[in-house]
Amino acid sequence: MPARATEKVTDSRLTEFLHDEIKDIYWAEKHIVTALPKMKKAATSQELKDAFEEHLEVTKGHIERLEKVFSLLGAKPQAKKCDAMEGILKEGTSIIEDTEEGTATRDVGLIIAAQKVEHYEISTYGGLRQVASTLGLDDVAALLEETLTEEKEADTALTGIAEQGVNYDAAAEQE
Ligand SMILES: [Fe+2]
Ligand SMILES: [Fe+2]
Repeated sequence: MPARATEKVTDSRLTEFLHDEIKDIYWAEKHIVTALPKMKKAATSQELKDAFEEHLEVTKGHIERLEKVFSLLGAKPQAKKCDAMEGILKEGTSIIEDTEEGTATRDVGLIIAAQKVEHYEISTYGGLRQVASTLGLDDVAALLEETLTEEKEADTALTGIAEQGVNYDAAAEQE
């Protein structure tokens, strides 16, 4: 949390930067919504399928929250292509192509791909929450914080699925 109180700033270079970054993560979230059903379909274990399904619903909520953020910034929702997320999602697609259907090894790959998505989101929401708070945009900061918490929960759930079964099942798989 900020060590010093700041006046509410609505028209600064940093506000413009925040607005721009919100457009970037808005693009990312919209593409995650299209990727998650494909990841669910590709997954082998029911547990992982369920985790992707659940995070799909949660992600739709992230989009709605970002739309609220746009309105708090006095702007219309607008997406700006996020090159990083495009690359991370492409990597997920190639993991599906490179692994065999119905294997735990594919699930290991999908979990790692999904965690790369979550970590990108965690760093983005964490940083932007802090920027919003520095600017005195507390309601924006609170919305970003809510999403940040859900991204961390998703990441932890994925670690659990890997460590409590999928990784071991994959280690036992023969070529
Ligand atoms: Fe998200
Ligand atoms: Fe996420």
